[in-house]
Amino acid sequence: MKALITAGGHGTRLRPITHTQNKHLIPIANKLMLQFALEFAQDAGIIDVGIVINSNDESIKKAFGDGTDLGLKLTYIPQDAPLGLAHVVKISESFIGDDNFIFYLGDNILVGGIKKFIGDFEKNASNCHLVLSKVPDPNRFGVAEVVDDRIVSIEEKPDNPKSDLAVTGIYLYDKNIFEAVNNIETSPRGELEISDAHQYLLDKGYDVSYSEITGWWKDTGKPSDLLEANRLVLDNIKSDSKGIVDKNSTVSGRVQIGANSRVINSNIRGPAIIGDNTTIEESYVGPYSAIGKGCTISGSEVEYSIIMDGCQINQVKRRIESSLLGNDVEILRSKTRPATHKFMLGDQSRIEIE
Ligand code: DAU
Repeated sequence: MKALITAGGHGTRLRPITHTQNKHLIPIANKLMLQFALEFAQDAGIIDVGIVINSNDESIKKAFGDGTDLGLKLTYIPQDAPLGLAHVVKISESFIGDDNFIFYLGDNILVGGIKKFIGDFEKNASNCHLVLSKVPDPNRFGVAEVVDDRIVSIEEKPDNPKSDLAVTGIYLYDKNIFEAVNNIETSPRGELEISDAHQYLLDKGYDVSYSEITGWWKDTGKPSDLLEANRLVLDNIKSDSKGIVDKNSTVSGRVQIGANSRVINSNIRGPAIIGDNTTIEESYVGPYSAIGKGCTISGSEVEYSIIMDGCQINQVKRRIESSLLGNDVEILRSKTRPATHKFMLGDQSRIEIE
């Protein structure tokens, strides 16, 4: 069994963060998003992992190298343009060869890993095994129609979904998927759709089985999805403090504090994680906050937010909540009069003020 993981695509819905950073390197509870997928593969006993990247992007290679640190053998497969998920599979044929494989969308986060689904695929001995999840908004996903416990049709982002069962980004295949991806046409939106490849398998009478995720699963397409994924992962962390907490501070609930970090006259309420070399001073850090490395939070309050490395939040009057800050962002109280809002924002930044 091999694994094929996506780390390319447009990332347009997460701009401006994705103007300067690959979406799959956004930290969730201070761990790079793609690392979750890689650890799931490793946990399932898979060694050979192909990662599909945009051909001009070196950042993923830089982050994970040849995979030795994770006990994996990584092969990077460049995609010239994001031409669709079936295109991703198509260009990976020589890497996969005749092996069965798990195709995992690197922007999907779930609890419990992928072992169970590999087991279900092997038990069913089917040609393709899909993982479904009930969702409130099926028109954002590939949608499966199930009759008498069999999938009878799959449509990509339908206007009138036939069910509330989304096809998640976890797919298991034998080599027949290559016949499918080589025989479908580009969709009206210009992509080779993975849902069309699945429909092809159904039409040709291949055996398509499925499991349903009953636990937590998230496709991190939007900023709110990232905050929810962060919440989910933080809900499962254990306390661990490598930093210094002074006697005027309180730390309650499950909180991780990184090496050389300092908590001074502050209140940290978990679940929360604080990276290395960060200072929290005269501040409140509330539940579901992930603060990166080398940050300073002073005279301010932060809750339910992802604050990436090197940020400075200084004397901000109102609590910062439901926020996503990229690396090296500064939010400071103005020292000069008149007291105005002063912004320096990149393209497609978004701020909400009272
Ligand atoms: O998350 C589940 C959904 O993923 C499924 O329900 C849909 O059927 C499936 O089409 C897909 O929909 P998305 O709109 O969420 O796909 P997205 O374009 O966001 O890409 C998913 C991942 O694949 C992400 O890691 C980016 C990467 N990608 C995407 C394309 C189109 C590539 O690496 N290359 C590509 O050409």
